[in-house]
Amino acid sequence: MSQTPPPVGFDAQNAAAYDDRFAKISALRESLLLQTRAVLGDLPAEARILCVGAGTGHEVQALATHFPNWRFTVVEPSAPMMALCRRRAEEQGWTDRCLFHSGYLDSLPPVPPHHAATSLLVSHFLVSPEKRREFFRQIAIRLRDEGRLVVADLSGDRSTSSHARLEAVWFRLMEIAGAAPEQHEKTREAWRRDVGFLPVPELESLIGSAGFGAPQLFSQSLLIRAWFAEVERERAQG
Ligand SMILES: C[S@@+](CC[C@H](N)C(=O)[O-])C[C@H]1O[C@@H](n2cnc3c(N)ncnc32)[C@H](O)[C@@H]1O
Repeated sequence: MSQTPPPVGFDAQNAAAYDDRFAKISALRESLLLQTRAVLGDLPAEARILCVGAGTGHEVQALATHFPNWRFTVVEPSAPMMALCRRRAEEQGWTDRCLFHSGYLDSLPPVPPHHAATSLLVSHFLVSPEKRREFFRQIAIRLRDEGRLVVADLSGDRSTSSHARLEAVWFRLMEIAGAAPEQHEKTREAWRRDVGFLPVPELESLIGSAGFGAPQLFSQSLLIRAWFAEVERERAQG
């Protein structure tokens, strides 16, 4: 059986190291997940949530634990990341509430529309703005009218001094996480090649043009910003 090729950086070796790599700075993730719970906290008790690029399953875990009747469509194109997500689900007892889709969103079979979607640290890997808009458009299509998106991404205008100041702190944070200073140049190189840093107004406008109302910024941790936005189909372009 043919398998979806894993996105760059999420092969078996990187997947196995993913959780450990960020363990020392997990407070950042916990903060984002806590706020995500609050952003989605007014949804119905039986809501359906689409988690795109769910990775090893942290966001599904946070939501499944606190909203015991929510159901999840878990989309993840990297088979090794999905295997860890499934293991987490088995260990914690929320497998039965999940539909697991090993692949990209465009190949997800028809399912009833969702009340909300999460895309946490995923869309910045789509360097082409057109592909990124299509990614968000695919999410909008899978949401109910006024369905809510929570999105977190690396972002910012890399040509500004403000961004450079935050980037310097970011790399000190990576050292706290355990990265050697010699690795920073490799990370910068990988960012230039594989990550679409967009200035905030451009990213907000791109999300809007994919069929969402004005995104509301609710969190910033150095270079990671997070927004929520509701579907407004008439704003979709193209
Ligand atoms: C940095 S990880 C984040 C995982 C998880 N959301 C979290 O916050 O821990 C990014 C994940 O997005 C997946 N991914 C990359 N490109 C994707 C795409 N175009 N569509 C869906 N998932 C994608 C990767 O395989 C990876 O598991």
